[in-house]
Amino acid sequence: MNKKGFIFDLDGVIVDTAKYHFLAWQRLAKSLDINFTEEENEQLKGVSRVRSLEKILAWGNKTISKEQFTLLMAKKNEEYLSYIAEMDSSEILPDIPKILNILIEKKQGIALGSASKNARTILDRVDLKKHFDAIVDGNDVSKAKPDPEVFLNAAKMLNIEPADCIVFEDSVAGVEAANTANMISIGIGNSNVLGQADFVFRDFTEISEEFITNLIKK
Ligand code: BG6
Ligand code: MG
Repeated sequence: MNKKGFIFDLDGVIVDTAKYHFLAWQRLAKSLDINFTEEENEQLKGVSRVRSLEKILAWGNKTISKEQFTLLMAKKNEEYLSYIAEMDSSEILPDIPKILNILIEKKQGIALGSASKNARTILDRVDLKKHFDAIVDGNDVSKAKPDPEVFLNAAKMLNIEPADCIVFEDSVAGVEAANTANMISIGIGNSNVLGQADFVFRDFTEISEEFITNLIKK
């Protein structure tokens, strides 16, 4: 049987944490008198903490000192951490365990490719870390998505060629990163937003075992 590398984004793919990032950024933006829409929030998904704050400040036409920037990033993360402190495995998104089990049973490579510096903490909280052969997160890369670095590093750690990797992503930046890495991109979410992906599914409940088997055979 072929061995492929299946690389999962974390926030909004494995766990429902995209809503917590949104809440924390929104509150921070409000404190600066900046409002942003859910549509604009799509541009923050998959993007690093630094880049997210830069974008929000640009939307609000605000310039701040380096010190204030560092302070605001810490404040955002503090609020975000207070949400994830309460997390447990009930926040694993539907059918993630089922898909992971199929991949384990079929002896496929499984990796995490996340922009978050909190990724390992979250995987521990929801007790999924043991299933991953490789973990690449925001602490391990110098270039954030849409740069393909995070996925290319994950492929290298799995010892699988990029062309034999499949990426699950809920963000525009992440789909772009997977495409640039020459991997198969699978968008999880709204097809109007993730139109650049090779395939789009609303969530993992729409992904059949047959679909996975066909990806492995390719
Ligand atoms: C991504 C999220 O996974 O990680 C972004 O989609 C987030 O919303 C980014 O900003 C960085 O996360 P963290 O936990 O390092 O602030
Ligand atoms: Mg995501």
